[in-house]
Amino acid sequence: MLINRIGLTKDETQNDQVFLLSVPAGEDSLAHRRHVCSRVIPQSQFSLTNWLDPEKVFGRKAPLHVDLGCGDGSFLCALAQRLPDKNFLGIERLLSRIRSSARKAASLDNVRILQMESFYAVRYLLPAESVETFYLLFPDPWPKRRHHRRRIVTPDFLKSVHVALEYNGVIYIATDHLDYFRKIRKIAASTPGFAIDDVDLDLPQSRFWLIFEQKSATIYWLALRKVSDSEAYTKIAKFFEQLRE
Ligand SMILES: C[S@@+](CC[C@H](N)C(=O)[O-])C[C@H]1O[C@@H](n2cnc3c(N)ncnc32)[C@H](O)[C@@H]1O
Repeated sequence: MLINRIGLTKDETQNDQVFLLSVPAGEDSLAHRRHVCSRVIPQSQFSLTNWLDPEKVFGRKAPLHVDLGCGDGSFLCALAQRLPDKNFLGIERLLSRIRSSARKAASLDNVRILQMESFYAVRYLLPAESVETFYLLFPDPWPKRRHHRRRIVTPDFLKSVHVALEYNGVIYIATDHLDYFRKIRKIAASTPGFAIDDVDLDLPQSRFWLIFEQKSATIYWLALRKVSDSEAYTKIAKFFEQLRE
């Protein structure tokens, strides 16, 4: 019956991704109760073309923290538990990881999870100046040169992060990949409106953080803070000064 109504010709409901992405408005609460859990934002609560309304999604107004590529949700849920006065949104594209995150978030009122491509969500779904903190922990480094264009950090990505951040809001980026780190720093230095801050953090460890630590890999951190126009102007002036030297 449900299969007919959602327009599938055969029982493809075993494939949760197809099912979750195909289910019509009104049926998704049933779908995600059966297949995932109540912390995953159902399709009826957001539109691909309208801004997300964080107050509606979380049922309260609170500073918003967003974990981009949240993986299995270890970091997202541990931090949400530590900071109950903040709202935490985890964005992840893989359904198996969405499920792991959702299981961990089941008892946490301040966590929501969105199955979505991160750049799209930042650019088209998160309202301007709505995010206090972004976390981008161990983004896929795509080490082969011909794959570099798949990396998420680009000038456009950072511009969209800048728009979504509140003033003084920060994006924390961590990677074990030195070449990607250098590239990110370079893009950050030429993106107006960000200051590179010292990273002085006490954060719970994410799954990949633990994995890299166990391998004794060096982890490179970057904190980019959205600054006021006058701070941005000073930064640009300094940049041109350095060019002249
Ligand atoms: C190396 S893992 C890191 C996971 C987690 N942040 C951690 O530190 O344990 C990268 C994660 O980002 C997800 N991911 C990669 N590109 C993405 C994108 N464009 N949008 C959403 N998720 C993405 C992957 O599916 C994967 O779960």
